[in-house]
Amino acid sequence: MGRDSLKYMNRIVVKTQDGDVKISRHIYGHFSEHLGRCIYGGFWVGNDPEAAAAIPNTRGIRNDIVAALRRIKIPNLRWPGGCFADEYHWKDGIGPRQDRPKMINTNWGGVTEDNSFGTHEFLDLCGQLGCEPYICGNVGSGTVQELSQWIEYCNFDGVSPMADLRRKNGRAEPWKVTFWGIGNENWGGGGNMTAEFYADNYRRYATFAQNYGDTRLYKIACGACDFNYDWTRVLMEKAGGQMDGLSIHYYTIPGEWAKKGSATAFNEVEWYTTMRKAARMDELLSKHSAVMDEFDPKCRVRIIVDEWGTWLDVEPGTNPGFLYQQNTLRDALVTGLHFNIFNNHAGRVYMANIAQTVNVLQSVILTEGPKMILTPTYHVFDLYKVHEDAVKLPVYVESETLGGLPALSASASEDGEGRIHVSLTNIDVKQEQEVKIELRGLTLSPSVKATGRILSSENMTAHNTFDKPDTVKVKDFNTVSVSGGSLAVRLPPMSVVTVELA
Ligand code: AHR
Repeated sequence: MGRDSLKYMNRIVVKTQDGDVKISRHIYGHFSEHLGRCIYGGFWVGNDPEAAAAIPNTRGIRNDIVAALRRIKIPNLRWPGGCFADEYHWKDGIGPRQDRPKMINTNWGGVTEDNSFGTHEFLDLCGQLGCEPYICGNVGSGTVQELSQWIEYCNFDGVSPMADLRRKNGRAEPWKVTFWGIGNENWGGGGNMTAEFYADNYRRYATFAQNYGDTRLYKIACGACDFNYDWTRVLMEKAGGQMDGLSIHYYTIPGEWAKKGSATAFNEVEWYTTMRKAARMDELLSKHSAVMDEFDPKCRVRIIVDEWGTWLDVEPGTNPGFLYQQNTLRDALVTGLHFNIFNNHAGRVYMANIAQTVNVLQSVILTEGPKMILTPTYHVFDLYKVHEDAVKLPVYVESETLGGLPALSASASEDGEGRIHVSLTNIDVKQEQEVKIELRGLTLSPSVKATGRILSSENMTAHNTFDKPDTVKVKDFNTVSVSGGSLAVRLPPMSVVTVELA
């Protein structure tokens, strides 16, 4: 059969009556580390009088970044690392800024960290964003007491040494931080621990991570690197009862670690390699979930994918330790693939955090002095925000395959107002894909309105620059119609689409 006839074989079934679990809004979460220009030169201009005068900010935090992230309904922000978390001592980042000790950021370029952005500044940022903080504690080089006191400092309302110190530093009310990570990548940069050793340590740290008042902590254990299912097994067996979430990190690296591949100069082969690697997130979640099912069949312990995204070569001429990369339509398709996978695993996956929000790895925002641009990845967050806290509808996708990978991926949900949203990706670089979407359990009268929004371009390397910030942006999508009780959709090559049925 020729390719032209194959392209009409796409079919998607959405089971509209079988909505079971909620797609947690935290799946659309973010991660910001003390790395390169994410915090300093990104969110924070508070310690640079010249930048602070030129860039509108509120208590040192850039207003344009806050406004952009509020538009995509950012649900949470993970901080201070990453690798940085396991050498961070939080008490160095409180009190008068001029008195805070300096340290070396050994992981990221060996630069001086002056601790001017600390706990108060981060929690002010989360307040301005209207999102939940997710703080990652130091297990690699810290102590049980240090983490326990950080929680007391943030959450205790009564009289205590840490709550009194917080008040002395200008904050009367506790912040009531719920999400706490107990270490980061402790199998590697976070201490090179074995799973057994970390599991024992996790239990110690978790024991002294106290609930204060009505703030119930959501404790997240450090999970596996990529495909290490043994780590998950040991953690679930030895410490599963004491955790709420278990993390997973997985990066999409088109090439090898030493030569990952350019962010903006790549060919069709590299495009598909990238998609294939991104799609492995599905295998990863299925297999880690299967191990967790053995110990926790009711899905009480959830998966927290607290680092994901593309990891590419840094932009030429930039500090290799700062991980600054551009962001193209390819990154947008990777994002759509991930979101469909996360939505479809919503029973087990509770949170995911793209690495990282501003100026580092697969960012949603890039800055250059006072200028700010939104990347193609940002626009995919915008297309998918409709799924936050909506009820997942199971989907079945029958699609043409390209080199072993389906051309189409999809996920669907129903929101509180009864609107159904179906999000779709077409990774095919050349062909438009026609797809029939059957909404099983729903009678579609011709009066039903189907509207859509799309992110696409004819050029696979299309990206936004400080001179041309709107090269890749969301547009209205019109090739969707109700026909014969189904939806008929024509998806352009290299596109991410969300269709709304109201
Ligand atoms: O996101 C960059 C780094 O990747 C993080 O610091 C670390 O956790 C991971 O290896």
